[in-house]
Amino acid sequence: MTPSTPPGLYILGFGGHARSVADIALTAGIRQLLFVDATAGPGEGFAGFPAVAAMPAIPTPEWQCIVALGNNAQRRALSDRQTLAQARLIAPSATVGIEAQIGAGVVVAPHARIGAAARIGRGAIINTGAIVDHETEIGEFTHVSINAAIAGRCRIGSNVMIGAGATVIDGITIGDDVTIGAGATVVADIVDAGTYLGTPARRVGPL
Ligand SMILES: CC(C)(COP(=O)(O)OP(=O)(O)OC[C@H]1O[C@@H](n2cnc3c(N)ncnc32)[C@H](O)[C@@H]1OP(=O)(O)O)[C@@H](O)C(=O)NCCC(=O)NCCS
Repeated sequence: MTPSTPPGLYILGFGGHARSVADIALTAGIRQLLFVDATAGPGEGFAGFPAVAAMPAIPTPEWQCIVALGNNAQRRALSDRQTLAQARLIAPSATVGIEAQIGAGVVVAPHARIGAAARIGRGAIINTGAIVDHETEIGEFTHVSINAAIAGRCRIGSNVMIGAGATVIDGITIGDDVTIGAGATVVADIVDAGTYLGTPARRVGPL
């Protein structure tokens, strides 16, 4: 446990991503978890920690929270309503390069790599095995999915979804609200919001 590790964590959400976040929190040395999700039923929980439908009226002092919703827009909306300090969770097996900056509410999952001087905006998810290489900027509430690779000096906007195993070559700019399909290869800048698939990635109509 590092000096900044909170004693406990409110995990806002109770889906698949919330369970991954719980795993990361426990391996990062956080001892107590409480899932908070309006859908939680009586007696529900995960890994020995309870799930409740609403935040306690008086939160436990020094606990932090993390919004653990996989959907970027929902994660932003809930995050913007929080008054508790939002944790920054980095799995012990992830590596973070020198001069990298990581915003509040960010989750960096196992075996991810954040390169030197990369900047990760608040509420972003850098998922299992993903690479964000040197000097690349990731916007707020963007999700870099499992095993995706973003090469150096890219600028990725806010609310972007980079699908599993996708590749973005170095120096690329991607605007806000873009979805890159799983396995796509981005070799040119993307300005317009929309969904882009394939190699090289091309825009497709509404899916
Ligand atoms: C691109 C994506 C968002 C589209 O999802 P969708 O709207 O549900 O689309 P559908 O599954 O209905 O597929 C529509 C068409 O696109 C094709 N398609 C879907 N995803 C594709 C992809 N990544 N690459 C190439 N083609 C794809 C489908 O084969 C289908 O083609 P068809 O009309 O010829 O049959 C989704 O497939 C995707 O890649 N999401 C990323 C998910 C991910 O990486 N999750 C990781 C979480 S950690």
